[in-house]
Amino acid sequence: MNIDDIKNISVIGAGNMGHQISLQCAIKGYHTVCFDISDEQLKKAEGFADSYLPGRVAKGKMAEDDAKAARSRIRFTKDLEDAVKEADYVIEAAVEVLELKRKIFADIDKLAPAHAILATNSSAIVSSMIVDVTTRPEKVLNLHFFNPALVMKLVEVVQGPHVSDETAKISMELCKRLDKVSVHVKKEVKGFLLNRILLKLFEEAEWIQEMGVASVEDIDKACVYGAGHPMGPFTLMDLTGIDLAYTMAMENFKESGDPAKLPKPGMVEHYIKKEFGQKTGKGWYDYTKK
Ligand code: 3HC
Repeated sequence: MNIDDIKNISVIGAGNMGHQISLQCAIKGYHTVCFDISDEQLKKAEGFADSYLPGRVAKGKMAEDDAKAARSRIRFTKDLEDAVKEADYVIEAAVEVLELKRKIFADIDKLAPAHAILATNSSAIVSSMIVDVTTRPEKVLNLHFFNPALVMKLVEVVQGPHVSDETAKISMELCKRLDKVSVHVKKEVKGFLLNRILLKLFEEAEWIQEMGVASVEDIDKACVYGAGHPMGPFTLMDLTGIDLAYTMAMENFKESGDPAKLPKPGMVEHYIKKEFGQKTGKGWYDYTKK
């Protein structure tokens, strides 16, 4: 297979990441199907596409014809077979639960054409943990986008030991066609490339806050106005989800046995209260007041 053979892309999961990844694929010319099991999530994703594209036109960022063409290239479905039966490339962006991902990959391996590449957007579950449920190990990899996926240029292409050079190469070429910048991650290390770095930033920011050295607001301000970050670490955790940051910290602790890696009490409190950030209306900041 080569990059020109990829015409149809399926995105599994219409949540935080999936709805934007699928829309980016449609904008960049791919016939795209976005799948979810939840009617509500699909409705939200479709509603987002219906408002985002005209919004781009109103902002002068996209021609009206291009927006209409992009809209016509994306559809939303609850039927997995319908979603993947003609796919050349599948990007799974479901929740970060290993058993769920293994079930999804077993199903799509049966339903998608034999030539299709099957990627997971997971930041935490490496494709090695899933690949044995498929019959095409050389075509199963992590393709990790960043939030918000329509805006952030980076995609990590993670080549586990089972992934063929051809799959990695096509995936990197696909990123280019999606107007993304890919980096080739040659080993399946935890956090891949950027999340490893971000995790250190989060850990340090939390430590400063827990020790009463500075407030959440001031730590964010320091990173924005002193280091030129687009947003501070607490605002960023609210964007990507405190639940995810908590899980990453717990995984790090379990792996290292180092109590210093445990989520700090402030984060644990938000986690217990299910204050995960923007998606729940409250996290380090309160979005219900904005
Ligand atoms: N969805 C889609 N587009 C969005 C958006 C969203 N949620 N938020 C902002 N945008 C777009 C706007 O439409 C605008 O587009 P335009 O310039 O083409 O018109 C552009 O982004 C800038 O938006 P704003 O002017 O409203 O706001 P900012 O300038 O503050 O930018 C931001 C917002 C792009 C989110 C910026 O703050 C940023 O880059 N933040 C850092 C995000 C980041 O680090 N992401 C990586 C997180 S880690 C991760 O995802 C890993 C995973 O495993 C968890």
